[in-house]
Amino acid sequence: MCGIFGYVGKKTSAPKAVLEGLKTLEYRGYDSWGFAWLENDKIVVKKAVGKISNVKTINSTPVRNSFVAALGHTRWATHGGVTDENAHPHTDCNDKYALVHNGIIENYTELKKALLKKGHRFKSETDTEVVNHLVEDEIKKTNSNSKDSGPLLFEAFRHSFKKLTGLNAVALLSPNNEIVLAKTGSPLCLGLGKEEYLVSSDAVAILPYTKEVIFLEDNQGALINSEGIKLYDLNSGQVINREPTHLEWSIGSSSLGKYAHYMLKEIYEQPKVLSHIVRNYKDAILALSGVVKSSYGTYIIGCGTAAHAALAGSYLFSKIASRHVNFSFGSEFIYLTNFLTPRSLVIALSQSGETIDIIDSVMEAKKRGAKIASLVNNLGSTLYRNSDYKILLGAGPEKSVCATKSYVSKLAILAILASALADDVVSGMKQVAKASESIEEILRKKYVENVKKLAKKISSHDHIYTIGRGLNYPTALEAALKIKEVSYIHAEGFAGGELKHGAIALIEKGTPVIVFAPFDETYDSIISGATEIKSRGGFIIGVSPKKNQVFDYWLPVKDAGSASCISQIVVAQLLAYFLALERKADPDKPRNLAKSVTVK
Ligand code: AGP
Ligand code: GLU
Repeated sequence: MCGIFGYVGKKTSAPKAVLEGLKTLEYRGYDSWGFAWLENDKIVVKKAVGKISNVKTINSTPVRNSFVAALGHTRWATHGGVTDENAHPHTDCNDKYALVHNGIIENYTELKKALLKKGHRFKSETDTEVVNHLVEDEIKKTNSNSKDSGPLLFEAFRHSFKKLTGLNAVALLSPNNEIVLAKTGSPLCLGLGKEEYLVSSDAVAILPYTKEVIFLEDNQGALINSEGIKLYDLNSGQVINREPTHLEWSIGSSSLGKYAHYMLKEIYEQPKVLSHIVRNYKDAILALSGVVKSSYGTYIIGCGTAAHAALAGSYLFSKIASRHVNFSFGSEFIYLTNFLTPRSLVIALSQSGETIDIIDSVMEAKKRGAKIASLVNNLGSTLYRNSDYKILLGAGPEKSVCATKSYVSKLAILAILASALADDVVSGMKQVAKASESIEEILRKKYVENVKKLAKKISSHDHIYTIGRGLNYPTALEAALKIKEVSYIHAEGFAGGELKHGAIALIEKGTPVIVFAPFDETYDSIISGATEIKSRGGFIIGVSPKKNQVFDYWLPVKDAGSASCISQIVVAQLLAYFLALERKADPDKPRNLAKSVTVK
């Protein structure tokens, strides 16, 4: 996915405003960056391969007392290599308009073929650039380059956008200091400031200007100029009115503060997130438990870290409420929807609410009449807007690509939900509160130093394994994902009982194996599994409330009943973070990744 940010207002330098917005959106993609603004009524484009965080400033001619506009983009390449030419913004044959894009234009090859035949000259290999030339043709038809072109420009843009297939968000800067934009699938939100207006892929970049935000729905577009923001329906071209949402987030929650990386900041925010849930979520969770009870067939889905939370949810529902829910990866569920009925309930987990594999599965489930409940962090996101029941994770902006606080937030809500299904919501809240206290202990300086020491000790290994049984199996999977995605060490999680069915062949002398062993029904079996690994030379790292002679390295985690899965993962998050530092990797912006995968 990419990051789009645009500004229309009276700042003396619109490009500098866009630079700050793009830096906030860097986690959405960091292959390349680019800006477009106007100098003497001509479009200026500045773009390059590399991270926007390395851009110190953008020199532009200051403009006083008039409205100026600028548009910017951080790219996560899908079509066309990571090169300066393929960086956004892109321009038309005459460099009159500049355009940025998030998504995949599925029919771009046939569109490009037709445009080349008409004599258009392309400068890049991207799918995006076809839109520049479609708009160029439409503008010629409607002759909308006159000074009063706003609505005419939007109409030309709308006709061009309607020719695209796939899930896309596009914004275009005109020589009249106007921005037109449209979306189907990829997110766009609009900020209504005081005589300044913003467009962004994520509301967090709008916060420094205003908390009044409009989350665009699919098939909606807008014209932004000195008169403000005008919304349109893309199908009819009619103007539409929508009230802005008032965002509750504070700017502080999205800045780095005293931390070296967002990943570390967000790990330390977890106790606060859990306390917020325990204090404020009882009624919403009780309401959702009623929905679960009245459904016939409940499915719980997620991708990546959210999948591990979904899998943990299936164990929590079984263990606490003796209730069966079916887990599936979000990307797989779309192939499992034939049995859904109008009595089915799909619980979709997603931090961003924009992960395409979740959105596609949810839309497919809705076609079969299933109800959708979502645990999602982003207010106004596509998943949020397409859910019949929603609980916001309340984790605040999560800007490290690596999910941490959004994971524990999902686990906490699912643990309390399982207790509510067992008509004992209070015990679930108490266990989550205990897990939060346990995390406070893990985050103490001495403990963190101990984890850092372990990271130093094992960072030279190319393989690390993690094992857990029952509810600790998703913990093992999530721990492995944290390690591999930020440190690039190959880490693999196994169900504790599966090791001797093949995986144990991988164990060599000194191979680090992290064993999750809370005091639950799996303890004795996982300890015997650890003993088998140790007998083959494995280096056993025990995450457990008490020492055991099989552990070569012990990381104590106090018991919190079924909520132990919440505190245990924090040890792995910290270990992954320090392994990344040992291996000189950037834990916030790992190579090849993006915070939310909004493209197939
Ligand atoms: C988590 O650390 C990863 N960055 C990734 O697996 C992520 O959890 C996954 O892409 C799902 O994202 P979502 O929660 O926004 O849907
Ligand atoms: N498809 C566009 C490109 O490759 C946008 C990619 C994205 O949104 O991640 O430049």
